[in-house]
Amino acid sequence: MRLLVTGGAGFIGSNFVHHVVEHTDHRVTVLDRLTYAGNRASLAGLPEDRVAFVHGDIADADLVDDLVAAADAVVHYAAESHNDNSLHDPNPFLHTNLIGTFTLLEAARKHGTRFHHISTDEVYGDLELDDPARFTEETPYNPSSPYSSTKAGSDLLVRAWVRSFGVSATISNCSNNYGPYQHVEKFIPRQITNVLRGIRPKLYGEGRNVRDWIHADDHSSAVLTILDEGRIGETYLIGADGEKDNKTVVELILHLMGRPTDDYDHVTDRAGHDLRYAIDSTKLRDELGWQPRFRDFEAGLAATIEWYRDHEEWWAPAKDSTEAFYARLGQ
Ligand code: NAD
Ligand code: DAU
Repeated sequence: MRLLVTGGAGFIGSNFVHHVVEHTDHRVTVLDRLTYAGNRASLAGLPEDRVAFVHGDIADADLVDDLVAAADAVVHYAAESHNDNSLHDPNPFLHTNLIGTFTLLEAARKHGTRFHHISTDEVYGDLELDDPARFTEETPYNPSSPYSSTKAGSDLLVRAWVRSFGVSATISNCSNNYGPYQHVEKFIPRQITNVLRGIRPKLYGEGRNVRDWIHADDHSSAVLTILDEGRIGETYLIGADGEKDNKTVVELILHLMGRPTDDYDHVTDRAGHDLRYAIDSTKLRDELGWQPRFRDFEAGLAATIEWYRDHEEWWAPAKDSTEAFYARLGQ
């Protein structure tokens, strides 16, 4: 297959491209605008006869039309992805997450191209800490932030294009990813690179908020499974039963990096901070037979710490400006 992967120079998109090259014979064209979050170095070393790179915007209708016409399937990762940025300036979130997704859907409709839309568990809002429930495909949408509301809107566009125009699309909503190539603005890489730089990790509020962690490589295998075997028009939730509160994760990072586990700061909490996310991925596991490979969070985190230790040249260029941004917000 010829895959068009949008956002393939970002965190999860680049992990997916590496996974596809390793595990399939597919050829990939990456379409990426290389915003602050995109990095060509995340695709370094991949074979040129398997992976082509196009620098451009998913909201550029002419460019998108040409690329979708040449593809057998689109896997749509490109997004503005960071909640804190969306609280500061929502504008690019509307452009990319809504107009960009609309532009891709119109091209998929015109050319009859298979479309897989990457989304997030945040479209469901949050759960109470003591609620035994987890998100399922039936949970009502209830997004909290400009980021998650634009992702929710993009999911609804996909559903409408399936029903109204017969576009062959599937949607997946995944929980929090960790692993290599994640931007230092995000929680886990921020704390690891802080420790590597001799800065104390920064925990929002009390750190009781819970996230459901999955390794990015497991997200990739789930997406390939849905692309191959998913039923058109269906939504699949992706998760690996990895619920942890943020305080536990910071303390584990400090422990794994040989630091005292109380060597961190509590900083200003995020406005509207979602309390807890939790995914029930029974449908994906029972219907399509998918299973996560990374089941030991501590081992996956230790490997991720080693990756950041070994790849300072990858993350260092973004570190100072990211910390300056957080410092202005008191975070
Ligand atoms: P990221 O911010 O690391 O990467 C986004 C990529 O999209 C970057 O390479 C950026 O340059 C590119 N991009 C942004 N705007 C673009 C535009 N207009 N045109 C073309 N390219 C553009 O994001 P990520 O964390 O890798 O997330 C990827 C996708 O996965 C997003 O759709 C996100 O909502 C979803 N998701 C992320 C997580 C997570 O834990 N990070 C979990 C579930 C779902
Ligand atoms: O659930 C999936 C979502 O996970 C994706 O849709 C988003 O694209 C992705 O960014 C992520 O969203 P979160 O807001 O959960 O991730 P983030 O890494 O920003 O924060 C994780 C938790 O850690 C959250 O509760 C906020 C907290 N946090 C974050 C930072 C950056 C801190 O305590 N300190 C920090 O410095």
